[in-house]
Amino acid sequence: MPIKSRIRAIPDYPKKGIMFRDITTLIKDPAGFRLVIDGLTQRYLENGVDFDVVVGVEARGFILGSALAYTLGKGFVPVRKPGKLPADVVSQEYELEYGTDKVEIHLDAILPGTRVLLVDDLLATGGTALAAAALVEKVGGVVAEMAFIVNLPDIGGERKILDKGYRVFSLTEFEGE
Ligand code: PRP
Ligand code: MG
Repeated sequence: MPIKSRIRAIPDYPKKGIMFRDITTLIKDPAGFRLVIDGLTQRYLENGVDFDVVVGVEARGFILGSALAYTLGKGFVPVRKPGKLPADVVSQEYELEYGTDKVEIHLDAILPGTRVLLVDDLLATGGTALAAAALVEKVGGVVAEMAFIVNLPDIGGERKILDKGYRVFSLTEFEGE
Protein backbone atom coordinates (compact mmCIF):
# COMPACT_ATOMS: atom_id res chain seq x y z
CA MET A 1 0.00 0.00 0.00
CA PRO A 2 2.19 2.82 -1.24
CA ILE A 3 0.15 5.73 0.16
CA LYS A 4 -0.44 4.16 3.55
CA SER A 5 3.15 3.06 4.00
CA ARG A 6 4.38 6.62 3.39
CA ILE A 7 2.28 8.04 6.27
CA ARG A 8 4.28 8.37 9.48
CA ALA A 9 2.73 7.47 12.85
CA ILE A 10 3.68 9.63 15.84
CA PRO A 11 2.46 8.16 19.16
CA ASP A 12 1.16 10.49 21.91
CA TYR A 13 1.00 13.63 19.72
CA PRO A 14 -0.37 16.17 20.41
CA LYS A 15 -1.66 14.43 23.56
CA LYS A 16 -1.03 11.15 25.30
CA GLY A 17 -3.11 8.39 23.73
CA ILE A 18 -3.42 10.07 20.30
CA MET A 19 -1.69 8.35 17.39
CA PHE A 20 -0.93 11.18 14.97
CA ARG A 21 -1.03 10.17 11.29
CA ASP A 22 1.52 12.47 9.67
CA ILE A 23 1.08 13.04 5.93
CA THR A 24 4.18 15.25 5.61
CA THR A 25 6.25 12.13 4.91
CA LEU A 26 3.79 11.15 2.16
CA ILE A 27 3.69 14.48 0.36
CA LYS A 28 7.38 15.37 0.60
CA ASP A 29 7.99 12.34 -1.60
CA PRO A 30 7.22 13.29 -5.23
CA ALA A 31 5.90 9.79 -5.95
CA GLY A 32 3.75 9.93 -2.82
CA PHE A 33 2.30 13.33 -3.61
CA ARG A 34 1.60 12.18 -7.17
CA LEU A 35 -0.21 9.07 -5.89
CA VAL A 36 -2.45 11.27 -3.75
CA ILE A 37 -3.34 13.81 -6.41
CA ASP A 38 -3.61 11.23 -9.21
CA GLY A 39 -5.75 8.95 -7.03
CA LEU A 40 -8.23 11.69 -6.25
CA THR A 41 -8.14 13.09 -9.78
CA GLN A 42 -8.91 9.68 -11.23
CA ARG A 43 -11.88 9.24 -8.94
CA TYR A 44 -13.45 12.54 -9.88
CA LEU A 45 -12.71 12.24 -13.58
CA GLU A 46 -14.22 8.76 -13.73
CA ASN A 47 -16.99 8.28 -11.21
CA GLY A 48 -19.43 10.94 -12.27
CA VAL A 49 -19.63 12.93 -9.01
CA ASP A 50 -20.89 16.22 -10.34
CA PHE A 51 -19.45 19.33 -8.69
CA ASP A 52 -18.45 22.89 -9.57
CA VAL A 53 -15.77 23.84 -7.07
CA VAL A 54 -13.29 22.36 -4.60
CA VAL A 55 -13.50 23.57 -0.99
CA GLY A 56 -10.44 22.84 1.17
CA VAL A 57 -10.07 23.23 4.92
CA GLU A 58 -7.12 25.14 6.44
CA ALA A 59 -4.40 24.12 6.73
CA ARG A 60 -3.72 20.62 5.46
CA GLY A 61 -6.79 20.58 3.24
CA PHE A 62 -5.21 23.39 1.20
CA ILE A 63 -2.30 21.17 0.17
CA LEU A 64 -4.34 18.61 -1.68
CA GLY A 65 -7.39 20.74 -2.38
CA SER A 66 -5.56 23.28 -4.48
CA ALA A 67 -3.62 20.66 -6.46
CA LEU A 68 -6.80 18.68 -7.06
CA ALA A 69 -8.77 21.74 -8.16
CA TYR A 70 -5.99 22.40 -10.67
CA THR A 71 -5.93 18.87 -12.13
CA LEU A 72 -9.73 18.80 -12.38
CA GLY A 73 -9.97 22.26 -13.91
CA LYS A 74 -12.04 23.64 -11.03
CA GLY A 75 -11.70 26.67 -8.78
CA PHE A 76 -10.63 26.47 -5.14
CA VAL A 77 -12.42 28.01 -2.15
CA PRO A 78 -10.72 28.08 1.27
CA VAL A 79 -12.41 27.36 4.58
CA ARG A 80 -10.20 29.18 7.08
CA LYS A 81 -9.49 29.43 10.77
CA PRO A 82 -11.08 32.53 12.40
CA GLY A 83 -10.03 36.06 11.51
CA LYS A 84 -8.12 35.22 8.33
CA LEU A 85 -10.67 36.06 5.63
CA PRO A 86 -10.96 39.76 4.78
CA ALA A 87 -14.53 40.07 3.43
CA ASP A 88 -17.86 39.17 5.07
CA VAL A 89 -17.84 35.63 6.49
CA VAL A 90 -20.06 33.01 8.06
CA SER A 91 -18.66 31.01 10.98
CA GLN A 92 -19.12 27.58 12.47
CA GLU A 93 -17.77 26.18 15.73
CA TYR A 94 -16.73 22.55 15.97
CA GLU A 95 -15.00 20.03 18.20
CA LEU A 96 -11.70 18.46 17.21
CA GLU A 97 -10.26 15.11 18.19
CA TYR A 98 -8.48 17.32 20.71
CA GLY A 99 -9.96 20.72 21.71
CA THR A 100 -12.42 23.02 19.92
CA ASP A 101 -12.06 25.45 17.05
CA LYS A 102 -13.98 27.59 14.59
CA VAL A 103 -13.93 27.84 10.80
CA GLU A 104 -15.09 30.52 8.39
CA ILE A 105 -15.94 30.94 4.72
CA HIS A 106 -16.54 34.07 2.67
CA LEU A 107 -20.24 34.76 2.41
CA ASP A 108 -19.98 35.23 -1.35
CA ALA A 109 -17.54 32.37 -2.05
CA ILE A 110 -20.23 29.84 -2.95
CA LEU A 111 -23.29 30.92 -4.92
CA PRO A 112 -26.60 29.26 -4.01
CA GLY A 113 -26.93 25.87 -5.69
CA THR A 114 -23.19 25.44 -6.26
CA ARG A 115 -22.06 21.83 -5.92
CA VAL A 116 -18.97 21.40 -3.78
CA LEU A 117 -16.28 18.75 -3.40
CA LEU A 118 -15.06 19.15 0.18
CA VAL A 119 -11.47 18.01 0.72
CA ASP A 120 -9.24 17.56 3.75
CA ASP A 121 -6.25 15.39 4.57
CA LEU A 122 -7.80 13.30 7.32
CA LEU A 123 -11.14 12.22 8.78
CA ALA A 124 -11.12 11.47 12.52
CA THR A 125 -14.14 12.66 14.58
CA GLY A 126 -15.66 14.32 11.52
CA GLY A 127 -15.99 17.59 13.44
CA THR A 128 -13.96 19.59 10.95
CA ALA A 129 -15.63 18.13 7.87
CA LEU A 130 -19.13 18.60 9.28
CA ALA A 131 -18.34 22.20 10.25
CA ALA A 132 -17.04 22.87 6.73
CA ALA A 133 -20.15 21.22 5.25
CA ALA A 134 -22.34 23.39 7.51
CA LEU A 135 -20.57 26.49 6.19
CA VAL A 136 -21.09 25.44 2.58
CA GLU A 137 -24.77 24.89 3.30
CA LYS A 138 -25.17 28.16 5.23
CA VAL A 139 -24.16 30.04 2.09
CA GLY A 140 -26.47 27.93 -0.10
CA GLY A 141 -24.07 25.33 -1.50
CA VAL A 142 -24.55 21.58 -1.79
CA VAL A 143 -21.87 19.09 -0.66
CA ALA A 144 -21.53 16.58 -3.48
CA GLU A 145 -18.91 14.47 -1.68
CA MET A 146 -16.21 14.68 0.99
CA ALA A 147 -12.74 13.42 0.03
CA PHE A 148 -9.81 12.59 2.31
CA ILE A 149 -6.41 11.01 2.08
CA VAL A 150 -6.84 9.16 5.37
CA ASN A 151 -9.89 7.83 7.18
CA LEU A 152 -9.70 6.73 10.83
CA PRO A 153 -12.96 4.77 11.10
CA ASP A 154 -12.32 3.71 14.71
CA ILE A 155 -12.80 7.33 15.82
CA GLY A 156 -16.29 7.37 14.28
CA GLY A 157 -16.29 10.38 11.97
CA GLU A 158 -17.05 8.42 8.84
CA ARG A 159 -20.10 6.77 10.44
CA LYS A 160 -21.38 10.15 11.65
CA ILE A 161 -20.95 11.71 8.21
CA LEU A 162 -22.55 8.79 6.37
CA ASP A 163 -25.46 8.82 8.84
CA LYS A 164 -26.10 12.45 7.93
CA GLY A 165 -26.39 11.41 4.29
CA TYR A 166 -23.10 12.71 2.92
CA ARG A 167 -20.91 10.75 0.53
CA VAL A 168 -17.37 10.00 1.74
CA PHE A 169 -14.30 8.92 -0.20
CA SER A 170 -10.84 8.23 1.22
CA LEU A 171 -7.66 6.94 -0.39
CA THR A 172 -6.61 4.88 2.62
CA GLU A 173 -7.59 4.08 6.20
CA PHE A 174 -6.14 2.90 9.49
CA GLU A 175 -8.51 0.57 11.30
CA GLY A 176 -7.67 -1.30 14.49
CA GLU A 177 -4.04 -0.23 14.36
C1 PRP B 1 -6.69 18.06 11.46
C2 PRP B 1 -6.81 17.46 10.09
C3 PRP B 1 -8.29 17.57 9.80
C4 PRP B 1 -8.91 17.38 11.18
C5 PRP B 1 -9.47 16.01 11.33
O1 PRP B 1 -6.68 19.45 11.33
O2 PRP B 1 -6.05 18.21 9.14
O3 PRP B 1 -8.61 18.87 9.31
O4 PRP B 1 -7.86 17.60 12.13
O5 PRP B 1 -10.02 15.80 12.60
P1 PRP B 1 -11.56 15.68 12.91
O6 PRP B 1 -12.17 14.74 11.88
O7 PRP B 1 -11.60 15.10 14.28
O8 PRP B 1 -12.17 17.03 12.84
P2 PRP B 1 -6.22 20.46 12.47
O9 PRP B 1 -7.41 21.22 12.91
O10 PRP B 1 -5.44 19.73 13.51
O11 PRP B 1 -5.26 21.52 11.83
P3 PRP B 1 -4.45 21.80 10.49
O12 PRP B 1 -5.12 21.18 9.30
O13 PRP B 1 -4.46 23.28 10.42
O14 PRP B 1 -3.07 21.21 10.69
MG1 MG C 1 -6.93 20.19 9.23
